[in-house]
Amino acid sequence: MLAIIGGTGLSELQGFEQLEKIALKTPYARSKVRLARVGSGDKEFIFLPRHGAGHKLPPHEINYRANIAALSDLGVSEIVAVNAVGAIHGDLLPGTVAVPNQLIDYSYSRDVSFYDGKLKKVHHIDFSNPYSEPIRQRILRATEAVNSDSKTACEVMAGGTYACTQGPRLETAAEIRRLAQDGCDMVGMTGMPEASLARELEIEYASLALSVNWAAGLSEDPITLDDIHAVLESGMEFVSAVITEVVQQS
Ligand code: HPA
Repeated sequence: MLAIIGGTGLSELQGFEQLEKIALKTPYARSKVRLARVGSGDKEFIFLPRHGAGHKLPPHEINYRANIAALSDLGVSEIVAVNAVGAIHGDLLPGTVAVPNQLIDYSYSRDVSFYDGKLKKVHHIDFSNPYSEPIRQRILRATEAVNSDSKTACEVMAGGTYACTQGPRLETAAEIRRLAQDGCDMVGMTGMPEASLARELEIEYASLALSVNWAAGLSEDPITLDDIHAVLESGMEFVSAVITEVVQQS
């Protein structure tokens, strides 16, 4: 079973038939997911709004363990995660998307593992390549299919390094200069520990990142939530089309 984890701008499912709301109890917290279906087809998937219905949870308060444990309990074996990001790489214009192939985690004070010695014994996963290559390729094929079908193509960066910061505040210009020196191409607040928790439970996981602003200090203009929401609204049309395509391919 495939799951889509919706991020900022994708807390509600639009254009999909919603079948069932499921509330699951995990050892970490309750998690609410929805079973949905694409169009009139028979392809079903699980949808989990990362920030909760109505986008109430800030990135540092999301119970990532409850979400990934719930998906695993439902038999999810593949996840496409949608993440809004600030652009560091000059090609990642707001409104364009990336399918990152690496990440650096700068977040802290989050529950980062199922192997915390309480429920499960200590264990170390291989995380050299944090994203699932088969899922990345599926997302990339889906972006090509959507682009070949529509008049206005969306630029897609087929790779890149995702920096996960703690939030909820945006970064300082100096922090972004440091991330750029570290080799980061985009910055968001929700990519970790989601990706490593999925790996711990052997779920194939990849991200579709939508650039919604230039990261701090990279544009003359201040970063405003109004601008971010405007880009999110238009960009999510492409993201929804890509998700539809990914589900149909599954
Ligand atoms: N920084 C961190 N997270 C983000 C940003 C940003 O500039 N834009 C969207 N998510």
